[in-house]
Amino acid sequence: MGEKLLDIKDIHVEAEGNEILKGLNLKVNKGEVHVIMGPNGAGKSTLVNVIMGHPKYKITSGDIIFEDERINDLKTDERARKGIFLSFQSPEEVPGITVEGLLRGARTAITGKPIKLMAFRKELKEKLEVLQFDESYASRYLNVGFSGGEKKKNEIIQMMMLNPKLAILDETDSGLDVDAVKIVSKGVNKFKSNDNAIIIITHNSKILEDLRPDFVHIVLNGKVVKTGDASLVDEINNNGFGEFKEAALNS
Ligand SMILES: Nc1ncnc2c1ncn2[C@@H]1O[C@H](COP(=O)(O)OP(=O)(O)OP(=O)(O)O)[C@@H](O)[C@H]1O
Ligand SMILES: [Mg+2]
Repeated sequence: MGEKLLDIKDIHVEAEGNEILKGLNLKVNKGEVHVIMGPNGAGKSTLVNVIMGHPKYKITSGDIIFEDERINDLKTDERARKGIFLSFQSPEEVPGITVEGLLRGARTAITGKPIKLMAFRKELKEKLEVLQFDESYASRYLNVGFSGGEKKKNEIIQMMMLNPKLAILDETDSGLDVDAVKIVSKGVNKFKSNDNAIIIITHNSKILEDLRPDFVHIVLNGKVVKTGDASLVDEINNNGFGEFKEAALNS
């Protein structure tokens, strides 16, 4: 087991006065890949937005501990500097900022050090190659005119360039064709190390063929109702979430 990275303790979260997370627990250590599955509206995106510090979501009780520090009250940029990265379920178009410009800005903000431009460009070129993006993407405006799959692959470029300790991918694989899913899993595998951890939210087990998870969690009605190994994915694919719903009702 690797070093402790993230510990979510009995967290309750509300948005617009509705309780969405209702006592959720999750522990992630370095070197681990965690998958979160669960029906639409279960609270998966809420969970990861709360980890990232999205201002819409209010923690009413419970703690988020990152590297032994309680981060409940830190702002999103402070969490990013601590090494937390979230790839969005629906990346937005940002006219006026190029892919490279965003990455340079984010890298400087996170490390607090000036960028060595030649080395940075070389590194970006390598990452673009892994994701099979043409070099010209670096100078395009962020996500503007990108296809759905290109937006998702671009999120992986951001992850690789920012090198976070905790990378959270919220349905990065949805809308990707079979080859793109393979390219993305290759990128994630390249990124994976004993010094970082990955949380993947997905509805599709295709991405898990190349990316073996250490733990699979089922989130239902704002809680983790079951944690297992990779075989849990097959169980869900075969039987759906029905049996877990019943178990949750009876618990
Ligand atoms: N900002 C918000 N204001 C009000 N309700 C919200 C807000 N964000 C999420 N919710 C509600 O919380 C519930 C959980 O939403 P969430 O986006 O976390 O689900 P999810 O598990 O990611 O679902 P999906 O698989 O469809 O992406 C939903 O009922 C949603 O409508
Ligand atoms: Mg979601």
